[in-house]
Amino acid sequence: MGSDIETIKERLGIAEVVGGHVKLEKSGASFKGRCPFHNEKTPSFFVSPLRQSYYCFGCGAKGDIFTFVEETEGLSFKEALKELALRAGVELKGAAVSRQAKTERDKLRAALEAAAEFFEKKLVENEPAQKYLLSRGLSKQTIKEWRIGYAPAEWRSLYHHLVPMGFSKEVLVKAGLVKPVTGAAKEPYDVFRDRLVFPLADQNGEIVAFSGRALAKETEPKYLNTPETMLFAKSELLYGLGKAKAEVRKKNYAVLVEGQMDLVLSHQAGVPNTVASSGTAFTAAHLERLKRLSPRIILAFDGDRAGEAAAEKASALALSLGLEVKVARLPEGADPADMVAKNPEDWKEILRHAKPAVEHFLDLILEREKDRRKALKAVEEKLLPILSFVGSSIERSHFASLIATKTGVKEEMIWEDLRKVKAGKSLPEKPLSPELETKRRSRSEEYGEVVELLKENPHDPDLLRHHAELSSHMKIDQLDEEIAALQFEVENGGEEVLSKISTLVRQRDEERRKVL
Ligand code: UTP
Ligand code: MN
Repeated sequence: MGSDIETIKERLGIAEVVGGHVKLEKSGASFKGRCPFHNEKTPSFFVSPLRQSYYCFGCGAKGDIFTFVEETEGLSFKEALKELALRAGVELKGAAVSRQAKTERDKLRAALEAAAEFFEKKLVENEPAQKYLLSRGLSKQTIKEWRIGYAPAEWRSLYHHLVPMGFSKEVLVKAGLVKPVTGAAKEPYDVFRDRLVFPLADQNGEIVAFSGRALAKETEPKYLNTPETMLFAKSELLYGLGKAKAEVRKKNYAVLVEGQMDLVLSHQAGVPNTVASSGTAFTAAHLERLKRLSPRIILAFDGDRAGEAAAEKASALALSLGLEVKVARLPEGADPADMVAKNPEDWKEILRHAKPAVEHFLDLILEREKDRRKALKAVEEKLLPILSFVGSSIERSHFASLIATKTGVKEEMIWEDLRKVKAGKSLPEKPLSPELETKRRSRSEEYGEVVELLKENPHDPDLLRHHAELSSHMKIDQLDEEIAALQFEVENGGEEVLSKISTLVRQRDEERRKVL
């Protein structure tokens, strides 16, 4: 099957197939013309015989002869295949046409799925790994349901399993499953070795990455994630969302935890509306996605300083995005996974006692700071900024009066200080929407494409223009992100970053002028 496709591609040639519809002119080793998929005056549509593909910088259309015929003639993949086979004089064997991976993304998905199956099988064969999971309180059912697996302690066991199945080296590298060895002509090696692996699925339940937990205590890092790929953006993916989505809607709140173990065990304990971030703090993109399912969240992070700091940050961000935020309090030194392993009911009890963010942090301050002056200072510096993010004025006034009651400070004073907090800060730039994030990622894909095409013709003026524009856009995106992050820091008291922000803003505006 795969070889049929290759034969057809070779015999017909992409320039000939596309040339039947589009007037192409030669440009180095490639061709260019006006895109058949959108209206344009200057050519943005490039065809590379070397890579058997086409790409349009104007509208993003891309693919091979099959997608081209599908799109221009309105055929399904199967029909396009039949037609092109006929033209090429290739007799099709086998009926597994629909299973044939079509686009690159599909190929990556297929490789990840095959890897998950491999890891699952290896877990069954590995006693110590299984024992470890059971000792952490995971049931056999949970292991199966979350498709937890084991990556053997060998350099290339996955690679040697997947290559004979027909996955190319490039696909495996792009899927983040293996790492190429630079310089030498050696084979790539497996990213995950001697680790438990948690498949990370997107909200449709398709695997896009893995997170591997070290089994040996001395192995660093404890958790290793697939690097960012065209399928996986760590700042967007919520672990467990596929399974939790419907439950978050139904219960009308989500429980947020920070670890893989925390997540699977929370689901096992009967809290199926739990989601986790993976190897990163919760981002605006994570929270915006949750907000579409429900405006209410409970943060349940580790019962240590790091967990507390993370909860403060996430609270401020979530409140500023208009979410209703509660914070659960875990016993000193414990995390959700520990709680469930000890007693699932304790975990649920902790969630039931979650308090609104402002109240949670107020109680923490009053408990810790027995010195009244210090306590009031902490309220002013830490709590009021959080309160200032509460969007609803009814809520704000409720908490202002709560703070007044609990601290014994007159309510007017709280209001006065709150006004100072508000006046002294500029609101953070609106975080990027998930749509924009996606757009930005496809930009780097586009950039890769232009770089490849430039190798084939380094002097094409249209390509050089696209290259310059894309570089500027990417620089702007990058600077925007840094600026937003710094603005967030300023909100939280980091005044010294102000000058850095203004430098970056200047750089960005300069860059913007180039493209406008
Ligand atoms: P923790 O260090 O709290 O681990 O990191 P944990 O969840 O308690 O892990 P277990 O229970 O010992 O297995 C919390 C989360 O941060 C990410 C992982 O997603 C982890 O679950 N993390 C942690 C990393 O990405 N890399 C690391 O090296 C450590
Ligand atoms: Mn933990």
